Amino acid sequence: MRHNPLQKQRKYLKEFWTFVKPYKKPLRIVYVLFFLNSALNLLPALSVRYYIDMVLSNRQMSLFGLQLPLLSDYTVNEKLFFSGCFAAGIVIVILIANSIGVTMHRRATRSVENVLFDIKIRIHNHINKLSLSYFHSERVGRIMTTAVGDVLNLSMMLRNSFGLTYEAVQFFLAPVLMLFLSPALFIVTLLPLPLICYSFYSIRIKLKPMYRQQREHQSQINAQMQEVISGIREIKAFNMEGRSGRSYEDINRRFYDVQNQIMRTFSFNHQLQYGSKDFGLVMIAVLGGVFMLYDIGNVTIGKISAFLLLANHFYMPISMFLRYFDIMQNGMVSLERIIDFIGISPDIKDKSDAVVMHRDSTSPRVSYKNVCFSYTDNHNVLEDINFDVQAGQKVAIVGLTGSGKSTLISLLLRFYDVGSGSITIDGRDIRDFTQTSLHQNISAVFQETFLFHGTIRDNLVFVNPDRSDEDIKRACIAANIYDTILELPRGFDTHVGERGVMLSGGQKQRLAIARVLLKDPLIVVLDEATSSVDTITEKYIQQGIEKMLEGRTAFIIAHRLSTIRKCDKIIVLDNGRIAQIGTHEQLLTKAGVYQKLYQSTAF
Ligand SMILES: Nc1ncnc2c1ncn2[C@@H]1O[C@H](COP(=O)(O)OP(=O)(O)O)[C@@H](O)[C@H]1O
Ligand SMILES: [Mg+2]
Repeated sequence: MRHNPLQKQRKYLKEFWTFVKPYKKPLRIVYVLFFLNSALNLLPALSVRYYIDMVLSNRQMSLFGLQLPLLSDYTVNEKLFFSGCFAAGIVIVILIANSIGVTMHRRATRSVENVLFDIKIRIHNHINKLSLSYFHSERVGRIMTTAVGDVLNLSMMLRNSFGLTYEAVQFFLAPVLMLFLSPALFIVTLLPLPLICYSFYSIRIKLKPMYRQQREHQSQINAQMQEVISGIREIKAFNMEGRSGRSYEDINRRFYDVQNQIMRTFSFNHQLQYGSKDFGLVMIAVLGGVFMLYDIGNVTIGKISAFLLLANHFYMPISMFLRYFDIMQNGMVSLERIIDFIGISPDIKDKSDAVVMHRDSTSPRVSYKNVCFSYTDNHNVLEDINFDVQAGQKVAIVGLTGSGKSTLISLLLRFYDVGSGSITIDGRDIRDFTQTSLHQNISAVFQETFLFHGTIRDNLVFVNPDRSDEDIKRACIAANIYDTILELPRGFDTHVGERGVMLSGGQKQRLAIARVLLKDPLIVVLDEATSSVDTITEKYIQQGIEKMLEGRTAFIIAHRLSTIRKCDKIIVLDNGRIAQIGTHEQLLTKAGVYQKLYQSTAF
């Protein structure tokens, strides 16, 4: 079904309303306060008219049909007393308006931050829920833009929506007051409008492409800076400092030129706006005077003075609207992106009747039956995979790079779902289990161990917060990492740097093994877990690995023969198909892929 833009907009606003609804009441109060504050701020301008005409010009005035006293016979002292009363009254109004202002700003901030807080948490949780297939590299940037940039735009929109209310009230109320005072003077007030509109138009039309250029240059500058930082070794080794500096200068010069152009256009139109307003004020004074002289439209000095103040309340919102327009437009686009993002439903979901995978057996049986899988629609990465792994067996998966080994085990972890066929654990399809319980029972160690920001202890216990210090110690000893941790400056409380840079590859790998031991899963998956460490370190880790695999069903992808030799079964993958299955000894004696792999130095 095709939606027209308005329907679409309504759909987004409806979704957005679910975030705003919990704070409906406080928000309503905030908008009412903004309205009151804005209206009160017009009162001083209006009362100036009464003060001048009544006290200084001795006119007979009436207010809401009520005759006010005529002050022509009053003494100077009495008039001074009136002036004092007038000033006090205005001060009270200003004080009330300002105290409303303080309250409303505080409440507005609180309400907006509450809504944004919920949205940010929702985005974060949604990222966690999304399936792995969503995280293609080009999408990561987009997710970041939504999670950071779009949320910022939205917050700008929400914060400014109050200001917009304030200005809108002024914009509509000021003309009402002006018309009530003097229609003739109101027409004079409209005189500079064409100039003000022209300056807006020219800012909008001329600046838009310039801003786009500026953003493009800025992202080029960022990209180049990032390239310099990540490629600093190559830049130094190949003496590319000069070249890199020159191209950086070029981009910056282009940025500089656009920036200057923007400032020129902006300042001209800005001045034009200010000039037009001043022109309007002068016209009110001069033409107002002329009207008075010729007795046109019942203009008085009091009315002219009130107009000089009110005109500002009228001109000001017009110039603010332009700013708000951009903020609102950006905010709406960002809102749509955020709503679209949190609307993406994960490819892999728990069934409505999914069961918890219990630990009935000490180590479960795993079977792949006729499994096919493709990342994209047109090409099967895995074809017709059939094999059984008995309880507690260790299976090695070998094959050339790209033959589908990692994909094969990703399916067991349900990072992706099989295209056809099934994977069962103890006879039950893995899609019948809740993902949480499945992941509780399967652990994986990858080539690159990812350490989260925090201490070593944090990185160990997050898998199972109930573990005691004694458990942690035992796991670390088994993984051969305990002594190393104790040698660190603050032991288990040492902070690992960003992405765990303070630890070597082997140390991180051993930490990952300790992590698996602490989690105590039924099935363990090792995807080239030791390929990033040297052979000596691997030997050192080997003991830990053996400890980790003890009594568990295991899938091992490894390049080194030492790791594979002891496995109960070796599955040889060739271009997504199983080429051979057997033990090391069996496979060596047969001519085939395994023998070739073994004879070449492939592993
Ligand atoms: N996320 C992905 N999207 C699309 N294709 C992929 C993805 N991951 C791997 N592939 C492709 O699937 C095939 C098997 O990859 P993989 O399972 O990583 O092989 P191996 O682990 O044996 O090196 C390769 O051709 C690879 O290009
Ligand atoms: Mg791989």
